[in-house]
Formats: sequence, C-alpha cells, structure tokens
Amino acid sequence: MTDAAPNNQPIAAHSPAAQLAIEIAGVQFNNPVWTASGTCGYGLDMAGLIDLNRLGGICTKGLSAKPMRGNAPWRIVETHGGMLNAIGLQNIGARAFVSEKLPELRNYDTRIIPNVFGYTIEEYIEAIKLLEDGPGIHAYELNISCPNVKAGGESFANDPRQAAAVTEAVKKAATRPVIVKMSPNVTDIAAIARAVEAAGADALSLINTAVGMSIDIHTRRPRLANVTGGLSGPAIKPIAVRCVFQAARAVRIPLIGIGGIATTEDALEFIIAGASAVQVGTANFYDPTAAMKIVDGLADYCTRHNLENIRALVGTVVLN
Ligand SMILES: Cc1cc2nc3c(=O)[nH]c(=O)nc-3n(C[C@H](O)[C@H](O)[C@H](O)COP(=O)(O)O)c2cc1C
Repeated sequence: MTDAAPNNQPIAAHSPAAQLAIEIAGVQFNNPVWTASGTCGYGLDMAGLIDLNRLGGICTKGLSAKPMRGNAPWRIVETHGGMLNAIGLQNIGARAFVSEKLPELRNYDTRIIPNVFGYTIEEYIEAIKLLEDGPGIHAYELNISCPNVKAGGESFANDPRQAAAVTEAVKKAATRPVIVKMSPNVTDIAAIARAVEAAGADALSLINTAVGMSIDIHTRRPRLANVTGGLSGPAIKPIAVRCVFQAARAVRIPLIGIGGIATTEDALEFIIAGASAVQVGTANFYDPTAAMKIVDGLADYCTRHNLENIRALVGTVVLN
C-alpha cells in the first residue's frame, strides 16, 4: 500500500515517512516534530547545526509589523530544570522576514510557520498582511500572550472574549491556516480553547511559557531586568501535558504540544495526552539535534508497536 507524501512522491507503508506524515489544518507535514518559536531564530540560524529538511516544521521567532529591539539585559537566567526569559519579543519585523529570510528558508522541505504578535488587534492584522505577501508560508502561529494595550493591558490569552476577538480578526485577514498559541497563565484553559475554536482557529498550540521570577539573594534584586519572565524547559512539562489533556477534551481542532520536550518519551507523553504534533523549544539551546532524535525515536516507536501512522496514538490516554 502507498500513501501520498507531502512532496507527492509515493511512499511505502510502514516506512518512517509513512509512519510520521501528518496533516494539520489541511497542511501536510513530513513529521510531527517542529521547533518552537524563539528557540531557533528564523530557522536558518539552525541550518549550520542540523538538516532543516528533517524537521516537520519551523515556528519562527515572534514577528511584529515593525522591528523591535527587545528588553535590556539580563534577559535569560537558568533555573532548576529550566530557564526564565524576558527577551521582550526582539525581532526583525514581518517585512524583513519576508524579504531577507523567507527566500532561503523556503528552499527547505519543511513547513514554515511564522509566529505573529501585536499589542492591539490592528497590529496583528498589519503583521499578517505583510506576511501574506510572502510565498512558501504554510500557516501562522498567533502568540496571544501579549498585553492588549487597548483593553487595559491584560493579555489577549487571559480572557476568552479577547482571545476570540484577535483570532476572528486574524482569520478574516489570513489566507493560510491559523494556529493559536495558548498561555498556561490562565485559570481555565478549556474555556479559552473553546472560545478560540469557536472564533475559527484551525489548531491550537500549547503552551507558551509560565510567568516566573528569580531573585539574587546577595543583591536582593530580580535576576531579570524585566523583573518577571517566562519559565520554559522540563520544569513546565507536567503543566503543559495537563493543558493539552484538558484542551483535548474541550475542542475538536488539532493540538500541538509544547513545554519541556527534550526526548522521544516526552513527545509521546504529549501525543498520548492529545497532541497531533509537538514543538521542541528550550532543548534546542543545549542540544540542537534534539528534534531530529525525536523524529527517529517516534518512527522507531511506530515500528516497535506496529503503528501504520503516529496519529493512531493521539489522545489515547487510558483513564480507568
Ligand atoms: C528564549 C525564548 C524565546 C521565546 N520567544 C517566543 C516568541 O517569540 N513567541 C512565542 O510564541 N513563544 C516564544 N517562546 C516560547 C516557546 O516557543 C515555548 O512555547 C516555551 O518555551 C515552552 O517550550 P519549551 O519548554 O520546550 O521551551 C520563547 C521561549 C524561549 C525560551
């Protein structure tokens, strides 16, 4: 039996390509392992370290309509089992991404997913419009963890109505699928997930970083210049697995799991909880080959468990 590979070449059943090929929101992915926003630059930054063709997808650093310089240092500190960052969404801007990065990036056989943010709904739309001019983009990932400056500065991600409003507006402006990235810093992630699904999101990715803080006991000053920052890495994995599990019970659209994924076993945990794909973030900083090892490990798992395709495992957590 054969199946259609993303590049339309026939592939044999039970080959690693057939075992890992997946579709999310109408986009064909060679495999379900992507790199997470902010941990691989614009993708090309990793090209000297790994074969980008082996990644299912690349989520770029968050892009805004205009370039941003980010926060003052220190912007990153290590913590037990993770790290805190307050980069401040430094980026080259959507226009420069399209003209300077995309032409080279789209030569690779991977899916390109710009991560997009703004501080008002209008800013999201402005960034999306610039990216719509870029050929070879497969989907957008919306970072909705930013404060909405027009609504008292509360994060879009914290309020079902705000989250839905930005999703709906972006869906109207975008011709490509929209993946909405959830924040764990909310009371009821299922309620936000449902609101975003109802507003037209094609998929959800979860989770973004968890707000944290670290203090130098000698100076008694916060270690980050921004005072608080986003916690990532293995320390947040159980929170992320719980969020995926709860979202999977709340919505029907596909989920992409993120948070402390560093090994095949981590990725499998998210898939069993309900994720159709996963993103590798903080692990890229100490092992840029982590995602590729997970691709091999998932194919191996499928072979050992006689799975024709990894999708058979999605959401199969046993509760009784
Ligand atoms: C240094 C750094 C920068 C990040 N920048 C972004 C960003 O621009 N947009 C975004 O949506 N998430 C960003 N994230 C969050 C990651 O994409 C990911 O959701 C989070 O780190 C959890 O995954 P991990 O534990 O595997 O790192 C960033 C994370 C780190 C560590």
